[in-house]
Order: sequence, then structure tokens, then C-alpha cells
Amino acid sequence: MINTAAAPFASILPVKPAPGPYLWWQEGIIYQVYPRSFMDASGDGVGDLQGILSRLDYLQWLGVDAVWISPIYPSPMADFGYDIADYTGIHPLFGTEQDFDQLLAEIHRRGMKMILDFVPNHTSDQHPWFLESKSSRDNAKRDWYLWHDANPDGSAPNNWLSVFGGTGWEWDEKTGQYYYHAFLKEQPDLNWRNPEVQQAMLNAIRFWLDKGVDGFRVDVMWHMIKDANWRNNPPNPDYRPHMATYEQLLPVYSTDQPEVHQIVSRMRQVMDEYNERVMIGEIYLPINKLMTYYGTNNNGAHLPFNFQLIALPWNARQIALAVDQYEGALPVDGWPNWVLGNHDQPRISSRIGKAQARVAAVLLLTLRGTPTVYYGDEIGMRDVAIAPEFIQDPQGLNMPDLNLSRDPERTPMQWDDSDNAGFSEAQPWLPLADNYRRDNVKRQQENPNSMLSLYRRLIALRRTEPAFRIGDYVPVPAEGNIMAYIRESGESRFMVVLNLGHGTSYFRPQHLEIEGAIVLDTIPEREGLVIKNRINLNGDEAMVIKLK
Ligand code: NOJ
Repeated sequence: MINTAAAPFASILPVKPAPGPYLWWQEGIIYQVYPRSFMDASGDGVGDLQGILSRLDYLQWLGVDAVWISPIYPSPMADFGYDIADYTGIHPLFGTEQDFDQLLAEIHRRGMKMILDFVPNHTSDQHPWFLESKSSRDNAKRDWYLWHDANPDGSAPNNWLSVFGGTGWEWDEKTGQYYYHAFLKEQPDLNWRNPEVQQAMLNAIRFWLDKGVDGFRVDVMWHMIKDANWRNNPPNPDYRPHMATYEQLLPVYSTDQPEVHQIVSRMRQVMDEYNERVMIGEIYLPINKLMTYYGTNNNGAHLPFNFQLIALPWNARQIALAVDQYEGALPVDGWPNWVLGNHDQPRISSRIGKAQARVAAVLLLTLRGTPTVYYGDEIGMRDVAIAPEFIQDPQGLNMPDLNLSRDPERTPMQWDDSDNAGFSEAQPWLPLADNYRRDNVKRQQENPNSMLSLYRRLIALRRTEPAFRIGDYVPVPAEGNIMAYIRESGESRFMVVLNLGHGTSYFRPQHLEIEGAIVLDTIPEREGLVIKNRINLNGDEAMVIKLK
């Protein structure tokens, strides 16, 4: 007999979520394509949709499950597509709507998913909405953007800064007001407090979901709502002159406002009108704040991007602690995720060196939660030095002395040793790495010890072993440069041991008997070795031990 008396308590007792069924974005691996740099089929030096399509076999061979494509919409390209002039179109540089439909169909035919980039915080200054909005003070769309009177002395309404340098306010001579832009002046911020803006933007999301797109990565999610009273941001006591000028202030009033969660949950409601779509949020905030973006009762982002592996120093103790803190802070139904790089950050191979980038690959693909791989990281691509006359990124151009250009991590994919690395028949929009003839996909496919082979084997291991896809994460205490943990799901049990240092290191788990054989190692020659309790690691070595 069912004990109905227990039912009223169900809603207040902490409930461990049912073990599955798991969704594709929980079990799968996401691969980020920066479309300008992935593959150029049209021969103009800039990547495009047909180019991506021509490389789907590669992505399938690699074993990834979903492709996130950075913006492909019509755009004046002031910020390389993150300044959108039409949310429901395709930029001719990338192809046509037919190309898009074909790409989506081909991705789906291969059993993969497509994630688009959605940029809700700002439009291009060439978007018809903004052109209308700035046409007169009484235009119906005036309130769609953040217009504000000058102070009596003519100065900007407050001290808010632009992420890309300088003030965040731009004076409009014609209508005699300032507008706010968190990024370039060519990227005016939308007023998300306006219900018409909300409707228009949610409809744009529906447009792509109706087409069958599987989800969105939402740009600068924590920026969407600003303080209603326009208060000044306080100074940042930790600011140092080598930092971006934006860091001079703490953006406590211009970002991460409580009301942003209402907007995020409205977006989520739209996603939930469809079957199994995913919403990923780009959020650079500390763990406690990050967690709020999962929403109350899981009504926020499915995956608020977790950038800790990008932000933290490459130090075993700090990273082990951060993983544990993150695991501990997750809401009951919150699914973890991990990232090593993206189109805004120095590449992992440049940041920690090629040898440690192999260790990082093991970490990324064996931690609990959805991994996102940035194109080219799987072949260990490094940041490419770009001569001043070739710099394209506005962040680099605006703050030339601060080394902030993002061009180095956006260089064309190195496919093979032919001219232009098999990326294009024309000169690419950004310079290629000088060494592309010896360091490319084709070469690495032929080499079982290459970074690419390591990635592919890690991905295959993750796909076949439930311990890695959906299993528990159990930290194993370690010291010095060593980090260790167990992943387990039923019979599938593994211990991962990583040496984040260059020197050899001895490791013996405390109060834990372990026995098993190495099934995957950054030094493949070690595979098959039987481990019993103590392990001697080489410098830059990471291993996966299948436990008995
Ligand atoms: C974050 C994006 O990743 C970055 O490339 C862009 O410049 C800013 N948001 C502004 O959209």
C-alpha cells in the first residue's frame, strides 16, 4: 500500500536526484568552433558554414557530441560577430540560410547537436532597433536601449567603464543623451527591463529552436541587467596598472544584479517549451555567485560556464581545492562543467606549456561534468604572435600596451602541411602559426603519441565508461604537485592521478588500498603497468588507472 501520509514532506526534504536518465548535454562533450577560423570553403580567407560542414567527419572521428558555433549572424564585425545586426539571419561571409539548414541537418544526421551563440546584452549600433532608437527621443524604441541625460556639467551619467577600455558611455549629439555600452560603442546595451525587448529577444531564441537548434551559449549573461539607480561603481583596491582599465572599478552596479535571474529564467522557460535544449551561460564570477545562475529549483542556466581552470594558477593544491569547492557548492540538481579555453582567453598550451597541456586534457576529460573543448586545443595549438599591423581584435587595438589582444588564440585551424594549412585557398584573415607544416591535424592523426591521439583516446574512454560520463567524483587527498580522484559508477571504477609539476613525484594514497592497471597515460608506454598502492609519476605525467 502506498503511504500517502509521507507525501507532504517530499517537497521539504532534501532529495537526491534520481540517477538518470542523463541528457545529451550532461553525458556529451562540447566542441567550440570559432567560425572565422575553423575552415574556409569559399576561398576568401575567412571560415564559413560550408567549411564547418566539410570538417564534420573530423569532429565525428574525434568523438565530440555537440558543436557550439560562435556568432554567424549579420554583423558589421566590429567585435567579430558579437555585434549583431539581425538575430535571425546569417552573415553572407559565413553563407546562406540554406547553408545553415544543411549544416544543421548534417550535424543531426551524424547524431551530433548544434549550439548557437546568443548575444542578448547588446546589439550592433547598426541593428535597425538601435537606428530607430537613436533617431529621436520620442521614438517607440528609444527605451529599448540605455539612454541617459548628461550630468549638469555635461559629463557622463556615472563612472561605468567599457570592458574594452575607456568610458562605457557614448554621447549622441543629435538627441542630446548618452547611451551605455559595456563593450564597444558599436555594441549598445539593450534595456532588458523593457518588456518589448524581452519579447523580441525571446522570439529570436524561438526562431532558432523552431529550426531544430539544440541550445545556446548565452553571451555575458551576468551583464544583462544594470542597477536601476545608475549608482557609481566603487574603486577596485586590487587594481594594478598592468590590468585592463575596466578593472579599475568593481562592477557591482553594472553587472550581476538580482533581477538578472528573472530574465535568465524567462529564457529558460522558452528552452523548456522544446525538448532537451540546453542553455549555457557565459559568466565570469566567483563560485558562490556563479551558482546562483543555476536558478532557484533549477530554473536558470543548465550550465553556467565554469571558468576556474582558466582563471586559477596551474597549481595542484589550488585546483584540487577549487574542484572540491565547486562540487560542494553545486545545487542538488546542478550539473557541473569544465573549460580550458575559449576565443577570449590565452590558449592552454601557451599558458602552461605543451607538456602540461596534456595533463590538462586528462583533467578536463575525466572530471565530473560536461567538458567544452576549444577548437585547436586538441592539437595543442598555441597562441600565435601577431605583428602590430595585423592586429584585428578591438580589445587589442584599444589597449595596445596591455597585451590584451585575443587574436593570438583565434588563428586558423592547422589542418595539414599544405599552403595556408588546408584552412583556405586564400591568405587567412589572421596569420597562421609559423610551425603549422609540422604541427597539424593530419600529422597528429598519424602519430599515436600526439596530443590529438591523446584527446581522441580520452574522449573514447569518456564515451565508453559510465564512470567518466555520469559517475561520482571522489577526491583523493594528495600533496605537492599531485592531484588525484576516483570516478565510479557501478562496476566502472577508475583513479586519475595527475602530476602538475615537471619533476618526478611519488604518490601513495592515504588510508586507501588501490590496485589496478594504467589504461591511459600521457606517456603511453606506461599503459598496462599494474599499480598497487604506490605510484611513481614522471614529470608532466597524468594517468588513468582502472581499479580492480
Ligand atoms: C564575450 C564574448 O565571448 C567576447 O568575444 C565578446 O567580445 C564579448 N562577450 C562581447 O560580446
